[in-house]
Order: sequence, then structure tokens, then C-alpha cells
Amino acid sequence: MEVKNPYLVISAPDSKSWPEGDLPEIVMAGRSNVGKSSLINTITRRKNLAYVGNTPGKTRLLNFFNIDDRFMLVDVPGYGYANASKQMLIKFGEMMEEYFGERQQKRGLLIIVDSRHKPSVDDLTMIEYARYHKMKLAVVATKIDKLKRNEVKKCLDKIKTTLELTEDEVLIPFSSEKRQGIDRVWQVIDEMLMDKE
Ligand code: GTP
Ligand code: MG
Repeated sequence: MEVKNPYLVISAPDSKSWPEGDLPEIVMAGRSNVGKSSLINTITRRKNLAYVGNTPGKTRLLNFFNIDDRFMLVDVPGYGYANASKQMLIKFGEMMEEYFGERQQKRGLLIIVDSRHKPSVDDLTMIEYARYHKMKLAVVATKIDKLKRNEVKKCLDKIKTTLELTEDEVLIPFSSEKRQGIDRVWQVIDEMLMDKE
């Protein structure tokens, strides 16, 4: 899958600034610092399309990326970082409920987790949003390059059981560092886009 013209349409502070039009949308959410922005750059083969940082919580707004006028990738701010204020947590919750409740063109949710860690309660909450709204769901386990070979299966199994993933909710091992898992992520996105409810 070669991406020809990906670009950031808008970093939206609120629903009034969500892009118009009816391109289908794939949402990417996960804890802060797991590698969501890196994943966007990796699968589009761009270096700086999405901002990658060492300061967790840098992505604050909903970032809508237009991918070849085919669909939008929506980069959700990372949750669960230490410095988040109560006010920000409330705002985040409201923003996501509004998105899931009102956005007609939402097609699928990619939950991004760090393969080394047990998924969090917040990951489960996001997954429940998706299940409730009958969106297609897949989980991407990033930074797989940081695991030793013999740890991989154990870590993936733990993610599967913690999130109670079903047969059709796939789990994809991924590494932006080693560029691993790209084809499977595209395969899942394509399936989400073909699915018309
Ligand atoms: P927020 O926007 O703050 O929520 O973070 P994010 O989830 O977008 O994470 P980001 O892509 O900014 O990456 C965070 C850090 O993890 C950066 O230092 C990346 O270089 C590093 N990183 C991301 N993906 C990988 C990976 O697959 N392997 C390794 N080793 N490092 C990674
Ligand atoms: Mg980010």
C-alpha cells in the first residue's frame, strides 16, 4: 500500500472544527507515548507527518489526516499520562463521547498499546465505546522491537486476555523502529473501509 498524498487537514480543538465531507474515518487511540504518531508516519512512509515526541501528552487535539482523499486517519491525544489535570481528563472524555456519538463516518478504531505493558482501564474504556457503537476494532501492539523473542507470545497473550478480544478483533504486533507489521495494519484498515456497517 503506497500512500501518495497524506496531509494534516486540521488539529481540531472542538467538534465545530471537524472536517466537512464524508470521507470514512479510522480512529487511532492509546495511552500517551505508546507510539501512535510514529505509527502514522511509519504506515504512510513519511518522516514528519505526525508529531513524534519524547514529552508524553504532546498530542492534545484531534488530528485529522487526509490519506489520498480515500479516508481520514484521526489521531487521538494520548491518555493516561502523569501530568494530566482533572480538567483535561473531563475535556478528553467529553470530546471522545461527542466524536463517537455524533460522527457518522467513523468506520473503525485502532487501539494502540505498548506491547511491553498490560493494557490500562482507559484502553478498555475506549474499546467499550467502539463495541457499543458497533465499530470495527483492532489492537496494535507497538514497540515489539523492545521485547526479547521469547517474551513476545506471553505479552501478546496478556493483551488479548486483558482486553477480552474476540475472534474478529485482531491483534497486530508492530514496530515503527523495525518497520514491522505495516502490511497487516493496512489490511485491517482496508477491511474497516470496505465494511459499510
Ligand atoms: P502522544 O502523542 O504523547 O500520545 O504519544 P504517541 O503515542 O503519539 O507516541 P510517539 O509516536 O510520539 O512516540 C513516543 C516515543 O516512542 C518516541 O520517542 C518514539 O520514537 C518512540 N517509539 C514509537 N514507536 C516505537 C517503536 O515501534 N519502537 C521503539 N523502540 N520506539 C518507538
Ligand atoms: Mg502523538
